[in-house]
Amino acid sequence: MIVGIIGSGGREHAICHALNKSKKIDKIYCFPGNAGTDAIAENINLDINNFEEIKNFVFSKKIELVVIGPEKPLVDGLTDYLESFDIKVFGPSKVASQLEGSKIFTKNICKKYNIPTANFGVFDDTHQAKNFLDNSNFPIVIKADNLAAGKGVYICENKEESYEAVKEIFDGKFGDAKNVLIEEFLEGEEMSFFILSDGITYKIFGTAQDHKRVQEGDKGKNTGGMGAYSPSRLINEELEKKILNNIIDPTLRALKDLKSSYKGFLYAGLMIKNNEPHLIEYNVRMGDPECQTILPKLNTDFGEIIDSCSNGRLNESKINWNNKKSLCVVLCSKGYPETYQKNVEIKNINKIELNTDDHLFHAGTIKRGDVTLAVGGRVLNFVSLSDSFEESRNRIHQLLNNLNWSDGFFRKDIGYKVIKK
Ligand code: AMP
Ligand code: GLY
Repeated sequence: MIVGIIGSGGREHAICHALNKSKKIDKIYCFPGNAGTDAIAENINLDINNFEEIKNFVFSKKIELVVIGPEKPLVDGLTDYLESFDIKVFGPSKVASQLEGSKIFTKNICKKYNIPTANFGVFDDTHQAKNFLDNSNFPIVIKADNLAAGKGVYICENKEESYEAVKEIFDGKFGDAKNVLIEEFLEGEEMSFFILSDGITYKIFGTAQDHKRVQEGDKGKNTGGMGAYSPSRLINEELEKKILNNIIDPTLRALKDLKSSYKGFLYAGLMIKNNEPHLIEYNVRMGDPECQTILPKLNTDFGEIIDSCSNGRLNESKINWNNKKSLCVVLCSKGYPETYQKNVEIKNINKIELNTDDHLFHAGTIKRGDVTLAVGGRVLNFVSLSDSFEESRNRIHQLLNNLNWSDGFFRKDIGYKVIKK
């Protein structure tokens, strides 16, 4: 089978790597990919917002299945567009992608189907929002109702901060947000929970915990993710049952009631307190860097899984995992998540020697001749699997020390809740 992967991050390199190992897959194209995918697939430098260009390329190369990695093309309706030309796609429709594209869409489903989540109010006007804040307890959470690339969420400690958040959102800091969502602050510990669905049935696709803040001790600015580990330390049979019964099943039922269905990865961002799950948000894709920790745990052919999903035969697949502890540390360009230099050479990268249980997934990199250049904020994902999170992290630190890239930085404390030393 010939497949195309949309995206250029560490998640897409991990997907590309898993598909490259598959007996089912003959050839992979990445749109646009990165220096990592370049080594195992053919990178095609086209604009992923130009749906017609993608469709024409898919036809010209007889691509049989398109896997969409990031949320933006999903929310913009790339799946529906390609399917209207009878091209097979792994990824949810535009209607289903509102689960990530509109926080208010998701909140309304939660309300109607009794899905546990933070209490909330929706406001389309500054005056009403401020009135509500005048009578609220703090901390409180304020969100823009549109895709804001992981930003657009404010945890406000007092009234002044909350006024400022509302102002910034309505002033267009995150694009055209017509509404703000004000919600109760949930206490607990966060967990990422994944399923994959063919529109008829679904299967659990692992758990993870990520570190979103830039500084050690989970402090500082929010980022796309500085590292992750899988499985989550919080998961147990009882919690899993609650997540499926109280959150996932009613959400899929809601989409059915809207005459829609869910096909692709679904990522539930959960807050867990006293073994009770609350939904914080949905993402209509794999997590990044969670994906980089989960896919290497897979013992089943990923190409078979994706193929069965796109043919509505997921119920025939059995998904097997290894029991190893998987950890990922993200190497970033100095300055990230603020400004950083681009086109900086990553010397020594060819000298990195990986064992069977090590992976180096690229994110913001490109290849120029023999040279690998950093072009993004998150540059490389070092992943290692072993019998303990501590051993996995030690191994990654060894690899990072070997690379010794002076233009980069990483958090040394990824997984500190599962590594006591
Ligand atoms: P979101 O984009 O909705 O996932 O929010 C980004 C991050 O903000 C989450 O991963 C949480 O760390 C935090 N957050 C969002 N909503 C809440 C909430 N209601 N209570 C506590 N923390 C929250
Ligand atoms: N790791 C968080 C995300 O992918 O949104």
